[in-house]
Amino acid sequence: MNESRPSIIEVRDLWMSFGKKDALAGISFDIPRGVIHGFIGPNGAGKTTTIRILAALQIPTAGGAWIDGANVVTEPEEVRLRLGYMPDYVGVYEGLSVMEYLEFFAMAHQLPASRRRSAISDVVELTDLDKLLEVEVHVLSKGMKQRLCLAQTLLHEPDLLILDEPASGLDPRARIEFRSLLTELRRLGKTVFLSSHILSELSPICDSVSIVEKGHLVAHGSMEQIQNRIRSGDVQYEVTLVEANDDVEAILSQIPGVSRILLEGRKLSFDWSEDDSEIHQVWAALASRKVAFTRVRRHEDDLENLFMSLTTGEVQ
Ligand SMILES: Nc1ncnc2c1ncn2[C@@H]1O[C@H](COP(=O)(O)OP(=O)(O)OP(=O)(O)O)[C@@H](O)[C@H]1O
Ligand SMILES: [Mg+2]
Repeated sequence: MNESRPSIIEVRDLWMSFGKKDALAGISFDIPRGVIHGFIGPNGAGKTTTIRILAALQIPTAGGAWIDGANVVTEPEEVRLRLGYMPDYVGVYEGLSVMEYLEFFAMAHQLPASRRRSAISDVVELTDLDKLLEVEVHVLSKGMKQRLCLAQTLLHEPDLLILDEPASGLDPRARIEFRSLLTELRRLGKTVFLSSHILSELSPICDSVSIVEKGHLVAHGSMEQIQNRIRSGDVQYEVTLVEANDDVEAILSQIPGVSRILLEGRKLSFDWSEDDSEIHQVWAALASRKVAFTRVRRHEDDLENLFMSLTTGEVQ
């Protein structure tokens, strides 16, 4: 590992053209070590193209990229040693057992015979596959197959993992388990770069994200920075009252910062334009008039709305 370089991934003005189409139109970013970074964009945005260039599987039309200092165009072998890559479509070799599958990849990664057994036992322990070594791959659930593919990318102990849509097709439980595995990898000091077209799928574990659209980077930064960029001012609150109460409208309309009050039975909603630290005024006003409520929902953080506003060009 090249500790002197602060960024494990460096991308500079990357272009990729297929005929007349620019799949990437000048993308640049840096990813520091030890983070989980989400690479997010709608279908056709250029995620797989970027990832394949980073994994030294595709030569860009222009621009450059470096993995831990190794140039993806001029030093592809070096790049492949430094990263573990999981493609968006993972073909598993159905006739093999878990052990045979991992032995095959340990050989493909050119691990010396003396290291193969210990490398395999390390990765199966991490991915919870240690009880399943003799099981045939085709018997595994989709979540387990995904873990097996991840185990395979870890065999040569890369510092960086690049995963193309690893959570697609997983059920909610498998998704949560997969996420906790990725956080464990971060704890072990690895950097994880993973793509998705669903922002909320990644946001619970990502330290930072990039959002791509039509070959351009439309946002790049920590989750908080990106949320701040689209903060429009007004936040919508939805409150469930214990019982319907016609006085609520009058109570709230006295408070500066509250607007668009809507009351339908026990469902109350309103917009809040003041600082978040002042919202306690609303709850105190309701409590002082003995208006009890059970549930409060804050809408501004809705990640899919954030994603839509970024990828439809509302925010530049
Ligand atoms: N080999 C190719 N030949 C021609 N066009 C291509 C090729 N590979 C990708 N493209 C085009 O480049 C654009 C970006 O594709 P890419 O696969 O990188 O998108 P993506 O963000 O990964 O999308 P998805 O969410 O569907 O996986 C698309 O318009 C795609 O059709
Ligand atoms: Mg893709």
